[in-house]
Amino acid sequence: MHTATVQSSLDSRHAPGHWVLARLGKRVLRPGGLEATSLLLERLSISNNDRVVEFAPGLGITARRIIDSHPASYTGVERDEEVARKLRVNLGSESIRFVNACAQESGLEAGRADVVLGEAMLTMQPVETKRKIIAEAARLLRPAGRYGIHEIALVPEDISAEIRQEIRAGMSKVIHHGVTAQTVGEWEGLLAECGFKDIHVKLVPFRLLEPTRLIADEGICGAVRFAMNMVRMSEARERVLTMRRTFRRFAPHLTAIVATCTKG
Ligand SMILES: C[S@@+](CC[C@H](N)C(=O)[O-])C[C@H]1O[C@@H](n2cnc3c(N)ncnc32)[C@H](O)[C@@H]1O
Repeated sequence: MHTATVQSSLDSRHAPGHWVLARLGKRVLRPGGLEATSLLLERLSISNNDRVVEFAPGLGITARRIIDSHPASYTGVERDEEVARKLRVNLGSESIRFVNACAQESGLEAGRADVVLGEAMLTMQPVETKRKIIAEAARLLRPAGRYGIHEIALVPEDISAEIRQEIRAGMSKVIHHGVTAQTVGEWEGLLAECGFKDIHVKLVPFRLLEPTRLIADEGICGAVRFAMNMVRMSEARERVLTMRRTFRRFAPHLTAIVATCTKG
């Protein structure tokens, strides 16, 4: 299904947090940074026989890493029309495709993928849409195909309903997009519900806007560029500072999760 979402072009007062960060020069828009991405790719161990589908490639940082490992084919499924177009222009080729569609209705053929993955795209969906996206991953995979996610998880497992609601409301407010993080057990449950097994989980600190993580993810030059843009762009700066304050306030209950599993 073709979608015409272009959230990436909204102004910095209204755009979802990840596009504000991108506007300031941030490339890595995910909770566990490149550290978690490396873990995810290591676990999925993509080879040049693999047909890979990535949900929500965004600015294509992980897409580039996968493409550099020369998979048999790569298909990115991106909801944002403009983002999908840019990916097509920058990275597209005969075996490298980017489709503008919602992951839950990708329109791709069933059972034709060996690996499906997605980073920082399920947490921003309501639970029912999470379920549909994970079920779509299962539909695209051949039997015993591999699926991997990198998202935000709530800790501890018995977190109170009050704190969970406070986090959901607080994060959604500052990110200007729904944020529905799950506990580790709930993520595992969603995957198992959709027929996945051998679920392997690794937690990585959620330090997205912390200076050391910024340097680790963007490099020194990227971090300096980000900082200089923060000085120049006041609306975006206010958004980032508000997001960071909120992430720090909820830090005891937030972690990044990398989960990999196999289609049953
Ligand atoms: C936080 S960014 C993450 C981008 C990239 N995966 C990364 O980790 O840097 C979220 C991305 O998900 C895309 N997106 C959100 N919901 C989607 C859906 N249902 N189907 C496909 N793409 C979606 C957005 O357009 C955006 O590119």
